[in-house]
Formats: sequence, C-alpha cells, structure tokens
Amino acid sequence: MGVHVTTEAFEIIDLSAMGEDFVRNPYPVYAQLRERGPVHRVRLVDDIPAWLVVGYDEVRAVLGDDRLSKWLGNASDSANIGFEPLGSHMLNTDPPDHTRLRKLVVRTFTPRRVAAMEPRVQRLTDELLDAMLADGARGADLVDALSFPLPMSVICELLGVPYEDRDEFRTWSNFVVGPAPYAEKMAAMDEVRSYLDQLIVKKRDESGDDLLSALIRTIDEDGDRLSHEELLAMAWLLLVAGHETTVNLISNGVLALLRHPDQLADLRADFSLLDNAVEEMLRYDGPVETSTFRFTKEPVEIGGTLIPGGGEVVLATIADADTDPARFAEPRRFDIHRDARGHLAFGHGIHYCLGAPLARLEARVAIRSLLERCPDLALDAHPAALAYREGMLIRGPYRLPVSF
Ligand code: HEM
Repeated sequence: MGVHVTTEAFEIIDLSAMGEDFVRNPYPVYAQLRERGPVHRVRLVDDIPAWLVVGYDEVRAVLGDDRLSKWLGNASDSANIGFEPLGSHMLNTDPPDHTRLRKLVVRTFTPRRVAAMEPRVQRLTDELLDAMLADGARGADLVDALSFPLPMSVICELLGVPYEDRDEFRTWSNFVVGPAPYAEKMAAMDEVRSYLDQLIVKKRDESGDDLLSALIRTIDEDGDRLSHEELLAMAWLLLVAGHETTVNLISNGVLALLRHPDQLADLRADFSLLDNAVEEMLRYDGPVETSTFRFTKEPVEIGGTLIPGGGEVVLATIADADTDPARFAEPRRFDIHRDARGHLAFGHGIHYCLGAPLARLEARVAIRSLLERCPDLALDAHPAALAYREGMLIRGPYRLPVSF
C-alpha cells in the first residue's frame, strides 16, 4: 500500500457537524470509514483538526506507540488545544513523569486491594436500590438512581471527598468532559480548583485513611515527589476518570441486556456468566468512544499513511476497534457467551486504565443486585428516543428510564 505524504491528499471529514444520529449511534459511521482505510483527517468540536484512526490493529498500535506524546506541550499551535487547568496528571504526561505519578497510586488499584472494597460497594448498591424501590415505586431513571451515584460515592469515599459535595462534582465533571464552550469549562475548573485547594488544607490538619490524605503525606515526607499542582491534578483525574466512565458501563450494559432478552434470560439463569457478560458490555458498547489526544513527536506511519510530526493530534477510535469484524466475529451482536477478551475499552499500553479492576467490580455488583432485586426489569422508553452524551470521548445515555 502506498504512503500518503501530504495532508492535502485527504478529504477533511467534519465530525463536529454529524448531528444527533452520529451521537446516538456512531458505529456505522466508523465502520464506513474503516472500509475506506484506517486513517482519516477529521475536524472535531472547537475546530480541532485531528487524525482519526479506526480498525482494531491500528487503534491498538496507536495506544501503545511511544512516538505519540500525551503531553499538551507537544501539541502543534495549529491544533487549537487550549491550556488545560489541573492538567498536570498522569494521563497528560509521558515517561519519566508518567511513571512517577502512576507509581504513587498504582498500589491502591491492584486487584487484591480492589477486591477488599467489595463489601462496601455492595452496601452502597443495596442502599441505592432500597431507595429506588421504596414506597412501591414502579419505575425510575436508572442513571439517577444507580449508574451515577454508585461510582461517584465509591470514588468520593476512596479519595476522602465528602459525599454531600457529589452534586457539585457531577456538574463540574460533566462540563469538562462534555462539549461546553471553552470559557464555561474554564469557569468550572476555577471552582474545582478552589474546592480541592480547601479540601487539601482541611486534610493537612485532619489526615484520614483516605487516598488524598495518603498522597498529601507522600509530599510532606518527600518534598519533591508530588508538587501541589500535581496533587490537585491527580485528585481531579481520579474523580473524573473514576465516575464519568463507570456510570456508562452500568447504563450501557443494562441497556444492552434489556434490548437482548435472550441474553438477559441466560444471565439470570446463571450468574457465573456475569464476569464474561461485563467484558462483552465493555466491548459491545463501552463507555469510552475515542481515546484522549495524542501528539506526534515525529512522522508516524499508520496503516500506510504517514502522519506528519510536529504535534499533530491523533485520536484512536476504541469503539470501532472493539467492533471490527477482523477481530470480533459478528461484532454488532451482543453475546454474553463470547470471548470478548482483548477488547480495548480500558485502553492499552502505559496509559492502560488504572481503575479497570474497580470499574469491573462496581459493574458486577450493580448489575447482579439490580437484576436480583428487579425480576421484571424492563426498558421504559423507545431506545431511539434516548438522548446520548454529546462529544466523542464518553458514550452513554443521559437518562435510562426503566420499569420494575
Ligand atoms: C468502565 C469504566 C472505565 C473505563 C471504560 C475506562 C477507560 C479508560 C481508558 C480507555 C483509559 C486510557 C485513555 C487513553 O489512553 O487515551 C483510561 C485511563 C485511566 N483511567 Fe479509566 N476507565 C474506567 C474507569 C476508571 C476508574 C473507576 C478509575 C479510577 C478510580 C479510572 C482511572 C483511570 C486513570 C487514572 C487513567 C490514566 C492512566 C494513565 O495515564 O496511566 N478509570 N481509562
């Protein structure tokens, strides 16, 4: 296959103008692009020009390619990427900074440490389901009743953020990962910064056994390990990454089950299928549609296309990789019996999701408890009427009306 060298040879596809159908169901658009080739020149919201990569092999290669940088300072000026407040966190850094930052928290998220959180996750789930089913209720918005508050309570507890402050966090983080105008995002970030600043001051006086207190002690004991700015950024990253995604694993996963009654019946009949079912939910309709931005440090050839160096934006389409028929047979069939391992829903390479064991645990507990407590659970809306989160990063419905 020949290598295209100039960007002029490429039609620029304006993904920011694709409309509601694309937001609700982007899979056919990505599949059409994949038919034409693995690399496409696109325009994103905020007029950001990018190289969109589709197809399993190419997406996996992009996620693990160390010629692509995560550091915003490596973005070209023409990429129009604004300054990101609280942005000095591990997902925006390359080694050696990335290695240092990730090492500080990696122990908290090992499968063993996460397994120890199960009783607490179960109790929080039970409380939420008690509230949802109270007073003979026959229906609810599942996002509001379970998918959102569960991951939010878990991550707030883990970090030591008072649970009363969760509503504010919902507003702030929705803003920041959504398509809000830049000025509004900046205003929300100012509020977040002053909130976290105050929280850290409080925790310095009254250290607890939460993760934020532990990270503060790390600075105090060894001044150069984590700057104040890095501490703020770490707290912010964990709060956002810890709930914006898991919310949608629960919602998208329950929706897939409700739309496939045969699969739902199989799971109800045999809960030993649950682990496998969660992997299929991650593959079939995962919460992260495209990766975060990567920037070329040098010219990089992907699938026969040479992407110039100098900070071009590269975006890996995880949603397409996981529905590529070259990797998963009949990829748009939801099948909780299939071997979905190898999906890229949690990314790949050095930035592979730190919270994967926690997200899997929350999804297992939430979905099993929901099905056990609601034997007649059903979707209470037409699937085509569900409004989806805008933007290409996070995928999931705003509301999921169910009856029980
Ligand atoms: C179903 C839920 C989740 C999904 C689908 C998910 C997905 C991802 C993906 C795709 C990445 C890599 C992004 C990229 O390379 O561009 C990532 C990174 C990350 N995730 Fe998750 N995530 C989930 C839940 C969580 C949770 C619960 C936490 C924390 C408690 C978390 C913390 C992180 C962190 C800290 C990173 C950055 C890792 C690094 O840069 O080394 N995630 N996640």
